[in-house]
Amino acid sequence: MTTATVPALARSRSELRDLRGTGRVVFVPTMGALHEGHASLLRIARERAGADGTVVLSIFVNPLQFGPGEDLDRYPRTFDADLAVAAAEGVDVVFAPTVAQMYPDGVPHEGPDSAATEAVTVQPGPLGDLLEGASRPGHFRGVLTVVAKLFGLVRPDVAVFGEKDYQQLALIRRMTSDLCLGIEIVGAETDREPDGLARSSRNRYLDDEERRQAATLSRALRAAQERASYGVPAARWAAMGVIKAEPGVELDYLALTTTDLGELPDYPEPGTEGRILVAARVGTTRLIDNLPLQF
Ligand code: PAF
Repeated sequence: MTTATVPALARSRSELRDLRGTGRVVFVPTMGALHEGHASLLRIARERAGADGTVVLSIFVNPLQFGPGEDLDRYPRTFDADLAVAAAEGVDVVFAPTVAQMYPDGVPHEGPDSAATEAVTVQPGPLGDLLEGASRPGHFRGVLTVVAKLFGLVRPDVAVFGEKDYQQLALIRRMTSDLCLGIEIVGAETDREPDGLARSSRNRYLDDEERRQAATLSRALRAAQERASYGVPAARWAAMGVIKAEPGVELDYLALTTTDLGELPDYPEPGTEGRILVAARVGTTRLIDNLPLQF
């Protein structure tokens, strides 16, 4: 399929089937509310697909990955603006299915009142219970299930995900490898605002004061990066100092891990790489961020 100025729109599985090209298919799954971070993923996808390949963007706010009381209902939906971003970035196909297209038997939430408790879903294993998984039980089951379904429908050669959702990216890599899906997973560096705030669809929930406070997270991560050569306790202490100085930021977790989210010794061998991950609430908005560490 050649690059089109206006992407073709598929609302159903059969429409998607009719539009799938024969060349290399590069896929960017999203929940819409596209921002510059998504645009940078689409640019990577366009480059990887080449002129003869097909870039597929999906826009689907997946109910299965939202817990009770989370922001499913208020999650921003900006479909027309999303289509304009897709067109500007040379996307060939936008797949924007309905909930009924993705979950014809109902959304398989846990519990006795579920419409589809017998459905097969993807269990993330122990990595899915840490960090985001501990704060948002069932979240990664929802993410992996929808990503597996989208992979089955789009059948991409390559899929591009942002590193901002670092644990999600790690789990998608793991699922793709463990279930032998044969898809190359590309992780893209987090896109940031000039003050360091990681771009996120949820940033639009923040008022001006919260927006200022939110920049604390990336400052804390950078402070840890600067102290990493002194070991884990020093790096953690540096990050905590920045967070504690901003009372508007309510910390959920701050974790220093290996690159695959395992446990680190306090004093890793010099040169060891790791990751620092943070989640915090600013006002009513829950934000996450992470950066690499070099010990
Ligand atoms: O990162 C997201 O936007 C979502 O978790 C994803 C991967 C599109 C699955 O719904």
